[in-house]
Amino acid sequence: MATMVSPSPFLLPLFLLGSFFAIPTQAQVPANQTFTFVNQGEFGDRIAEFDASYRVIQTKAHTFYTHPFRLCFYNTTPDSYIFAIRVGVPNDEGLMRWVWDANRNHPVHEKATLSLGRDGNLVLAEADGSVSWQTHTANQGVTGIKLLPNGNLVLHDKNGRFIWQSFDHPSDALLLGQSVKNITGRSKLVSRKSDMDGSDGPYSLILDRSGFTMYLNNSGQLLTYGGWTGSDYGSTVTFDFDTMNGFDNVTAYELVLTVNQDIDAPPQNRRHLLQIRPIGNAHQINLNKLNYDAKYSFLRLGSDGNLKAYTYYNEVSNQKWEESFAFFSSYFVRECALPSKCGSYGYCSKGMCVACPSPKGLLGWTKGCVPPKLAPCKSGAKTDYYKIVAVEHFLSPYLDGGDGPMKVGECRAKCDKDCKCLGFFYREASSKCLLAPVLGTLIKEVNTSVGYIKYSK
Ligand SMILES: *[C@@H]1O[C@H](CO)[C@@H](O)[C@H](O)[C@H]1NC(C)=O
Ligand SMILES: *[C@@H]1O[C@H](CO)[C@@H](O)[C@H](O)[C@H]1NC(C)=O
Ligand SMILES: *[C@@H]1O[C@H](CO)[C@@H](O)[C@H](O)[C@H]1NC(C)=O
Ligand SMILES: *[C@@H]1O[C@H](CO)[C@@H](O)[C@H](O)[C@H]1NC(C)=O
Ligand SMILES: *[C@@H]1O[C@H](CO)[C@@H](O)[C@H](O)[C@H]1NC(C)=O
Repeated sequence: MATMVSPSPFLLPLFLLGSFFAIPTQAQVPANQTFTFVNQGEFGDRIAEFDASYRVIQTKAHTFYTHPFRLCFYNTTPDSYIFAIRVGVPNDEGLMRWVWDANRNHPVHEKATLSLGRDGNLVLAEADGSVSWQTHTANQGVTGIKLLPNGNLVLHDKNGRFIWQSFDHPSDALLLGQSVKNITGRSKLVSRKSDMDGSDGPYSLILDRSGFTMYLNNSGQLLTYGGWTGSDYGSTVTFDFDTMNGFDNVTAYELVLTVNQDIDAPPQNRRHLLQIRPIGNAHQINLNKLNYDAKYSFLRLGSDGNLKAYTYYNEVSNQKWEESFAFFSSYFVRECALPSKCGSYGYCSKGMCVACPSPKGLLGWTKGCVPPKLAPCKSGAKTDYYKIVAVEHFLSPYLDGGDGPMKVGECRAKCDKDCKCLGFFYREASSKCLLAPVLGTLIKEVNTSVGYIKYSK
């Protein structure tokens, strides 16, 4: 007959050891640090970027406010909320800006919840419990959450090590000290579609072996339109500022991109083809000099494709977020090279949209200027081209003018055969041929190429 025997005194320590290992070895979030915040109630009453309404996120244990950063839900269209980081001080009248979006492609609705459980996973869920976004950090030793003074939202372990950080997942902006990495996954900037629509837009800024490059996504085809191309910038590029003692002991600040120091071959030191300012030293790309503290700055790839920095400047009474750098500007790369400068179509000279090219010649430019509508390509409909002299396509500097040398007739024949070709740009001097898959803003440039724009007769 089997009888239950109590563990012998000899086995007892082993038994206790066993139960010790049975409890989780991972540290957990203390119960009083966990939270569930429900997205409901009053909206804040200050003016925020994109005409957004917002709700400040705070819980018993956390204000999630670290000057000038704050966690919020915001929406630009009704009942479509983004969990975000805001920058700006509510009572100083300045516009508050959105510098990080968690769920821009999956907005949540009224009564959605943001929660941090004991397991350390930060979860954004709809009211019915379906998960829209999460940090995937369950049972990885997370013991707390913090919004740091630099605007980085972190989940940390008991030693303060970051298990997850918002800095690793930029949306369209980099805060000071934040990097873009050349790893796969989302370490790139992607523009929002528009002020109203925060989902992924067509422009991106990506670090890979061929440079730190601004791309226009033309239905899956990535077209270079800006950035710092032609050099390997290694594994990270960080947005930062440098302090310098200038004239009369006035401190000057320089907004820079710092290239990681772990690569042997320094990036090319030559000036970019289109760049007016020097490119900086081997480990730094200079963006702009400022006369005031650049401590609160961010660099954003806007929905128009321009890359701009904004700096919080306390000494002025309004417009505290000054535009402190713009890639396409009078002092950096010519504005006419921004593909969206003239909307969907236009002829641009010295930063101004001066004409709308048409088969009848150059007409006055308006926002309604559009490229010619082409008959369906395979229908055999007759197409012709109209000519624009002294024009350059935005792709041209990045493609060395195109393919070739070849004759202008061959260039035309290639465009004829290519349904995606909307026109071609031919350089007489080098006999180079560029087929344009998108038109956008055409740059007036003497002595470069002649443009031939396809249209249906
Ligand atoms: C949370 O609980 C811990 C003990 O688990 C305690 O030491 C700490 O003071 C509490 N914090 C707050 C804010 O109540
Ligand atoms: C480009 O856009 C297409 C949709 O047109 C999308 O499927 C693709 O992921 C985008 N690629 C990049 C690199 O953004
Ligand atoms: C990232 O950069 C490092 C250092 O230059 C390089 O070894 C690695 O291959 C790069 N990765 C990608 C995906 O380009
Ligand atoms: C700059 O500062 C140093 C040290 O504070 C001082 O000795 C020097 O006179 C200052 N120069 C000017 C031009 O003000
Ligand atoms: C354009 O080319 C002509 C003839 O080659 C030359 O005389 C003129 O200086 C050039 N203009 C510019 C702006 O380069």
